[in-house]
Amino acid sequence: MQRFKKKFALITGGTNGMGFATAQQFINEGGRVIITGRSAETVTKALAQLGENAFGIVSNAGKMNDVFLLTEKVRQYTCHIDVLFINAGYGKFAPIEFADEAHFDELFNMLVKGTFFTVQQILPLMSDGSSIILNTSIVTEIGMTNFSIYSAAKAAVQSFIKTFAAECTEKGIRVNGVSPGYIKTNGFNNTGLSPEQIDGAIQSIIPTIPFKRFGNPSEIANAVLFLASGEASYIHGTEITVDAGISIIR
Ligand SMILES: NC(=O)c1ccc[n+]([C@@H]2O[C@H](COP(=O)([O-])OP(=O)(O)OC[C@H]3O[C@@H](n4cnc5c(N)ncnc54)[C@H](OP(=O)(O)O)[C@@H]3O)[C@@H](O)[C@H]2O)c1
Repeated sequence: MQRFKKKFALITGGTNGMGFATAQQFINEGGRVIITGRSAETVTKALAQLGENAFGIVSNAGKMNDVFLLTEKVRQYTCHIDVLFINAGYGKFAPIEFADEAHFDELFNMLVKGTFFTVQQILPLMSDGSSIILNTSIVTEIGMTNFSIYSAAKAAVQSFIKTFAAECTEKGIRVNGVSPGYIKTNGFNNTGLSPEQIDGAIQSIIPTIPFKRFGNPSEIANAVLFLASGEASYIHGTEITVDAGISIIR
């Protein structure tokens, strides 16, 4: 399929995991992609794998100076964005007693301020027929211990799906979200857990997942591309949960 021929996507956090898988699939379907990441090293490495239809910008979603420079940097490659996938981020664990203000600010700056101001900055490059997709998480629907700040930040992102959709309707820009369950990415490396703790956590989580496996980044990319495509032309202001049903288990 070539659903995205002549289309340009901006994917924040496209050097790895779900963002990278989405970039790969978008390019495979005829599109061109700009990815962001926090370091020249990760961006360059990803671009080498993505090929000539990928472009990169070093930009930290948690640093407002970077976010406010994004439009100017995007304009070096294109004056029009058809698909904006706001994906950059990670979670960090901390029990209520030990979570400090720096932890709170880090996650809220990156996920909440980063999402809001990236959309604000890129919106002038988008027009009728374009689409915005926000990456949330199933943690907005469940009470996961030690994840209160990340979950609250993702709940704010989830709220933006509806408010942005309401405001973008007149512009003809559809806004939706994808809510991943447990996905096999490097995301756990940022949580503050040691490699042994990560492995232990993964082994204890697998039996709780209805399909008894973590999802693959490509399974999130499939949902993002669907939401971005013409096949989703009547879908606006909602979220697709991609979690093997874990969020409905009680
Ligand atoms: N994995 C899961 O189970 C899961 C579940 C639900 C939701 N999510 C969400 O899915 C999104 C993607 O995560 P992933 O699991 O695919 O993790 P990942 O493989 O670690 O990828 C994260 C991506 O975000 C980038 N990134 C991180 N912080 C950034 C920042 N401050 N500014 C710009 N880019 C940043 C990373 O790039 P650099 O390292 O190059 O900066 C990387 O490209 C995140 O929003 C995460 O919260 C993950």
